[in-house]
Amino acid sequence: MTTYRAIGCMTGTSCDGLDLAYMETNGADMLTFGPSETIPFPAEYGNLLRERINLKAPVHFMDSELSKTIADFHVKYIEEFMINNQLTVDAIGFHGQAVWHDPTNQLTVQLGDCQHLANSTGIKVIGQVRQNDVKNGGQGAPLVPIYHLALASKLEKPTAFLNIGGVSNITFINADETLVAGDTGPGNALIDDWVIKHTGTPQDTDGRYAAQGTVDNDLLNKWLQHSFFKEPFPKSLDRMEFHQVLNDCSVLSLEDGAATLTQFSVEAIMKGLDLLPKQPNQVIVCGGGCHNPVLMNGLQQRFKNLIGASEIDLNPDAIEAQLMGYLAARFFENLPSSFPTTTGTKSPTIAGELFLPECI
Ligand SMILES: Nc1ncnc2c1ncn2[C@@H]1O[C@H](COP(=O)(O)OP(=O)(O)O)[C@@H](O)[C@H]1O
Ligand SMILES: [Mg+2]
Repeated sequence: MTTYRAIGCMTGTSCDGLDLAYMETNGADMLTFGPSETIPFPAEYGNLLRERINLKAPVHFMDSELSKTIADFHVKYIEEFMINNQLTVDAIGFHGQAVWHDPTNQLTVQLGDCQHLANSTGIKVIGQVRQNDVKNGGQGAPLVPIYHLALASKLEKPTAFLNIGGVSNITFINADETLVAGDTGPGNALIDDWVIKHTGTPQDTDGRYAAQGTVDNDLLNKWLQHSFFKEPFPKSLDRMEFHQVLNDCSVLSLEDGAATLTQFSVEAIMKGLDLLPKQPNQVIVCGGGCHNPVLMNGLQQRFKNLIGASEIDLNPDAIEAQLMGYLAARFFENLPSSFPTTTGTKSPTIAGELFLPECI
């Protein structure tokens, strides 16, 4: 198998920043990690993306201007990243900005002009990584389980990875290495949206507001009745699916709203754990939510063997970007990246499409 030098780029639904990670991989069991970095979005850029997500309409398909802007943002920081770390790369694995997710209508939209990115960097791009899965009847998400499996090679099974991004997702890895996966529900996005509305800052840093608030159990129990929590895995969620709960919060103080929304993410994740075929030996937590101590304490109280990814020498903020590099390598090796038990795709499906740099 060939070893690929890849840069993975991830911008999730939290709209917090661009995660970049360099990796050398054969797309299977060989993983050599290199530098990684998160470039926080300038406020104006983050707000622009949040506005587009709030529009909640598939017109985004047509938005070539914003797609170019997003690609240009990536070009700037990929080039800096390559110079600063003296990197030569074979491929860029590019996620793009998720703005709309409606897999039941075979629709998932990640904005970002892949061809423009390839032309501007002169590097092959593997992009539009969710489209093949959705076309094949899958949810298009999560794509990370196959990479979690690679990361878990030395871990005792059954084990699980929990990624707390804007939306949270879980991967269960059974003793025979079969996978069960799906989104569990809200992660950081509702908390971020609540806090930005009140303070202008798009996160509850270190859970400071939530720590001072009281959970409104009536609202919490009402939200937890949503049919999503009863659906079996695999399943996925649009970032805006639970957005209306913020209207319920309007009677609460900033602190009580933050506490209630944070506990909502905890309880949603616990409901996801209950849906797994077995209790895993441990749950490894990654994604930005692992930096929120109120969220982490809430989870720890309900599930003892919760381990931060950094405790097993993984960078919790780089895993999804590394995944994009990993998916690129799997594309070149013709290896599938999503499976009936991880996304509901009809058959194992290769992620991504190749964009070759054009001479212009
Ligand atoms: N120190 C922190 N305290 C509280 N929340 C944090 C902290 N650091 C990161 N986060 C949360 O993590 C989010 C980013 O997580 P990330 O994994 O990048 O999600 P996504 O993949 O959706 O972009 C931020 O928007 C914020 O809500
Ligand atoms: Mg992010």
